[in-house]
Amino acid sequence: MMSQTVQDAINKQIHAELGASYTYLAMSAWCEQHSFTGSARWLRLQSQEEYGHAMRLFDFMLARNARLDLRNLEQPRGEYKTLTEIFETAYEQEKAVSGQIEALYELVFREKAYPAVVQLEWFLNEQVEEEKTCREIVAQLHLIGSDPSGLLEIDRGLGSRAPGVTTKSGQA
Ligand SMILES: [Fe+2]
Ligand SMILES: [Fe+2]
Repeated sequence: MMSQTVQDAINKQIHAELGASYTYLAMSAWCEQHSFTGSARWLRLQSQEEYGHAMRLFDFMLARNARLDLRNLEQPRGEYKTLTEIFETAYEQEKAVSGQIEALYELVFREKAYPAVVQLEWFLNEQVEEEKTCREIVAQLHLIGSDPSGLLEIDRGLGSRAPGVTTKSGQA
């Protein structure tokens, strides 16, 4: 049985992943309403991916016969000024999540919860990918500035994102 400290920390991370999912969903709505339909699609898929992250930990907790403690989700920010601001915010959020995952990894290691250590290794890799993706999108947006044709091209590119194949454990 995992210690209370480990269970609390993983529950907290499930909450953070669901919060990220909710934030991406609000961002997707903003994009749809501002005619950035490609970005809206990308962000909706990202929201689903974050939900998958939460479910991966959810299923792990069930497999370990741990106690799930689902909390209220905060209302996500719904107003943005520009598409660039959305992806800058997403990038900041991903960097913050990476910090949370690293702290969680350190905690489960210290608590000798080795199966949780192995679970979290997947998350460490995933955060490297997610930070990279967001950083690249932000860089592209900074390059084109507010040029409308450039924005539309980026938006079209984001719209070509393929949906991840989501398994029971949320694997993308
Ligand atoms: Fe995540
Ligand atoms: Fe993420």
